[in-house]
Amino acid sequence: MDQTPSTLPRQSWTFSNEINSEIRRAAATGIYDIRGGGAKRRVPHFDDLLFLGASISRYPLEGYREKCDTSVVLGTRFAKKPIELKIPITIAGMSFGALSAHAKEALGRGATMAGTSTTTGDGGMTNEERGHSEKLVYQYLPSRYGMNPDDLRRADAIEVVVGQGAKPGGGGMLLGQKITERVAKMRNLPMGIDQRSACRHPDWTGPDDLEIKILELREITGWEKPIYIKIGGARPYYDTALAVKAGADVVVLDGMQGGTAATQDVFIEHVGQPTLACIRPAVKALQDLGMHRKVQLIVSGGIRTGADVAKALALGADAVAIGTAALVALGDNDPRWEDEYQKLGTTAGAYDDWHEGRDPAGITTQDPELMLRLNPVEAGRRLRNYLAVMTLECQTIARACGKSHVHNLEPEDLCALTVEAAAMAGVPLAGTSWVPGQAGY
Ligand SMILES: Cc1cc2nc3c(=O)[nH]c(=O)nc-3n(C[C@H](O)[C@H](O)[C@H](O)COP(=O)(O)O)c2cc1C
Repeated sequence: MDQTPSTLPRQSWTFSNEINSEIRRAAATGIYDIRGGGAKRRVPHFDDLLFLGASISRYPLEGYREKCDTSVVLGTRFAKKPIELKIPITIAGMSFGALSAHAKEALGRGATMAGTSTTTGDGGMTNEERGHSEKLVYQYLPSRYGMNPDDLRRADAIEVVVGQGAKPGGGGMLLGQKITERVAKMRNLPMGIDQRSACRHPDWTGPDDLEIKILELREITGWEKPIYIKIGGARPYYDTALAVKAGADVVVLDGMQGGTAATQDVFIEHVGQPTLACIRPAVKALQDLGMHRKVQLIVSGGIRTGADVAKALALGADAVAIGTAALVALGDNDPRWEDEYQKLGTTAGAYDDWHEGRDPAGITTQDPELMLRLNPVEAGRRLRNYLAVMTLECQTIARACGKSHVHNLEPEDLCALTVEAAAMAGVPLAGTSWVPGQAGY
């Protein structure tokens, strides 16, 4: 009998099974991996922060009797018609093309019932979306796909997209299988051919040009509409300061966990800073310019719960935006479609082939049959419910911290579970008064 003690085969951390599998995939196909969604790796996030709550030194508010306001006004700096929202959660820009017309309609319905805004995306504004969104933000993107001056006037606000958290410095993708006749017509491009959106605006080489662009948009819309500038989480201090200098009413800051409809995996996982690390530098830029709360800050990238909302607000944001979570609320990645996910070689919860247009839930598709699986009325109701729950959760936390408005939450209400999160959020490590490091820009 063999007396040698058995040992488990040793896996390499550097060359893990996952890495080896990607090397084999790349070797077999010769093309980089494209997918939708946000970063899957673990990075410091809102889960690493905790609220302290009130006790003797702080006075909590009574949940059922004392008011805790959740309203937010966006665009108070220059716009004649700022946007008034009932809740501090908005729906992020997601393109028609990436999403089906039914999905866009459902987003509009849910957002409207919840008293908030939704946003167009690369590819223009659809009538379904405009018709069902009481407050609609129109994106003005580097690609100019679907750009129409009449739609600028039909919008309630304009969002100049400079970048996205999933791919700061990069442009979007929409693969040929999703370029139907309608999508192609709206984008003024051929059907069935892969589209790669530009990574920078064609008529803009620096912040001075951005200022001119914003003036142009204000003139077209009679100075009525708030102008947002959306940036990916790259250099949040300087980018926020330059957006303010260029004349933004609102800055939208999207961290690295932010979702996308399609881009290279290497972009999603390796470019940009975690959402948590972006907020304090952006708020500091606003404070240094005397603009905090005058130019509003919307934060996105991995927002899932009312606790996440409350933490983003406590760090200084005025509102948050959600993309992926809104799609999940509509029915994306739902285990009820598990059999079909398996046929696509994936599983509910991990399905990220949004670019392939075969979404069993009928959301990230242009296939006429799959699209019909999503009932926009019912899906809109689910989104409304989800937004209501997140708002109630955020209020619950704010009241427990003694705040009569969710905007009164502050960094002082927080502590961090890890040294990394403490450094990024600029709050003390739990059980200590230690705030490691200092904000580095
Ligand atoms: C399906 C999908 C399509 C998107 N399309 C756009 C787009 O057209 N323009 C844009 O600025 N951002 C786009 N985004 C990014 C979102 O606006 C937002 O920044 C991001 O989803 C926020 O992160 P979250 O998904 O973790 O909530 C898209 C995101 C998704 C999931």
